[in-house]
Amino acid sequence: MCGIVGYIGQEQATPVLINALKKLEYRGYDSAGIAVLDSGYITVRKAKGRLRVLEEKIATEVIRGNLGIGHTRWATHGEPSDINSHPQTDVSGKIAVVHNGIIENYSKLKTWLENNGILFRSETDTEVIAHLINFNYNGDLLAAVIETIKKLEGSYAIGVICENEPDRIIAVRKDNPLIVGKGDGENLIASDVPALLEYTRNVYYLDDMEIAVLYKDRVDFFDEYGTKHGKDFSRVDWDISSAEKGGYEHFMLKEIHEQPKALANTLRARIKTYASKAINLDEIGFNSGWAKAERVVITACGTAWHAGVVGKYIFEYFAGIPTDVDIASEYRYRNPILNPDNIFIIISQSGETADTLAAMRMAKKAGAKIIAVTNVVGSTLAREADLVMYTWAGPEIAVASTKAFTTQLMCLYLIAFQFGLLRGEITGDRLEKLILALENLSGQAEKILSDEASVQRFAARQFNKTKVFFMGRLFDYAISLESALKLKEISYTHSEAFAAGELKHGPIALVDNDTLAVAFCTQSELFDKMDSSIKQVKARGATVLVITYEDEDRFNSIADEIFRIPRTYDELTPVLSVIPCQLFAYYCAVQRGHDPDKPRNLAKSVTVE
Ligand code: G6P
Repeated sequence: MCGIVGYIGQEQATPVLINALKKLEYRGYDSAGIAVLDSGYITVRKAKGRLRVLEEKIATEVIRGNLGIGHTRWATHGEPSDINSHPQTDVSGKIAVVHNGIIENYSKLKTWLENNGILFRSETDTEVIAHLINFNYNGDLLAAVIETIKKLEGSYAIGVICENEPDRIIAVRKDNPLIVGKGDGENLIASDVPALLEYTRNVYYLDDMEIAVLYKDRVDFFDEYGTKHGKDFSRVDWDISSAEKGGYEHFMLKEIHEQPKALANTLRARIKTYASKAINLDEIGFNSGWAKAERVVITACGTAWHAGVVGKYIFEYFAGIPTDVDIASEYRYRNPILNPDNIFIIISQSGETADTLAAMRMAKKAGAKIIAVTNVVGSTLAREADLVMYTWAGPEIAVASTKAFTTQLMCLYLIAFQFGLLRGEITGDRLEKLILALENLSGQAEKILSDEASVQRFAARQFNKTKVFFMGRLFDYAISLESALKLKEISYTHSEAFAAGELKHGPIALVDNDTLAVAFCTQSELFDKMDSSIKQVKARGATVLVITYEDEDRFNSIADEIFRIPRTYDELTPVLSVIPCQLFAYYCAVQRGHDPDKPRNLAKSVTVE
């Protein structure tokens, strides 16, 4: 969804910008560019394609300057091309802008600028910003930016430099993330923390409509009207290796393998052992008043929505509370019936997904209690929600979400168990057993990962299948959805998920010899039903992969392959059964020659509609 960076300091800006952009490529990678200012002159270099194309393009030249901005793009307005890449400049080339987001009124602004004699070169909405800043420029870049943002509708994180003001970078955000890194004799901007870690751990999280003016030895902050204010910085405590591949070929594989540790981290601070084991959710202000809640509403997008689908089953099963789950992009345009007695859970790895934030703001207006489940400290969601439960998964870089998903599930179990206890659905004894089962999941995930080779071998045989269907019932249906998404996202295999009971209502028409059917069989009471679904697809030529417990024999004779997971409560299996499917998707993508970390057309954090 575009990554922006900026640097001002003692070092040459070009290598710093390229290095920082490498950490943001997950946000978009169809083109990249930099603008560097030296001796009153801005040099812009841009290239269609991955960042390495830009690197090759500038490899033989020296671009001097201690101040610059950079961008890696995920195209919205205008196809990926050199000309549409950022930075965009005004007509004179003295002002350069990088932008993440969408200017919704750009065609109106463009027409107005054209009527004032401005010739546009690109198809981007960003070029409007550069021309407007120039139009408003009277010797003070800050004043020009303040004037310009009054005209902009939509969402943006912007970095601006100007030839006439070689000592500062101006940055501003609205509904898009932007962080300022406070260094020693140098300061930076970036869309996300990993880009800053090599330079500093002291960061300022910009608020909406807050403006930062970066000099090499200080940063000033202003509101949208130009009034200066002070701001405290936060300290990031990630270690750098968590944003590196650490010996794995791809971030995705590393993050799949990080799940045992991430699951344990998510639990650690929340389980207390007094006389017996108990859950402590003080961080979200959990108290007996919650018993009055009439309903839980969960909203999210993509993989986080799948966590929400599991969440619906979790809350209904363990807490006995009616639960709705909604796709945020649908929710925001419906007329949802919400009241202050609803608990609204918003799930988002990044905490920056535009649709998810919009849904949260609607619910907030309706007076619902908002709990954010997110991975990113300081994200917009974390700052705007009433209460925040962090997944503590560590940075997730690969576009396809893995450890964020399983840790989101862990958070939902914890909330639901506590709720269940409060509502009398779970006894203290049962809670203790459930907590133990949650604690075991980390080691059980480790065990599944130790048999990675058999998933890899199966993927090597099946990666050319043109259709892969995932089916299951209840919790297994939710995991079918997530597994199908993982496979299509990174291997581009046509994959679908359906509730196994729906097979006969349509999907079975598609089954033939070229179909791989993945049947999740972890809901013991429904084994007979799954058995018959499997037989139906097998009779029509499908190859069948079953995912079931390690001590379960009943599918041995009908499955072509079985992935096994350790025994746990049927209702906790989603945390485990998704793992072999993450590995399967990964190895299919690699077999097909795709980069799993940077799937085509996708971005990790979708900060525009
Ligand atoms: C994008 C990503 C998905 C992710 C979804 C929601 O579509 O490609 O992997 O699940 O956004 O992201 P969030 O950060 O809100 O969890």
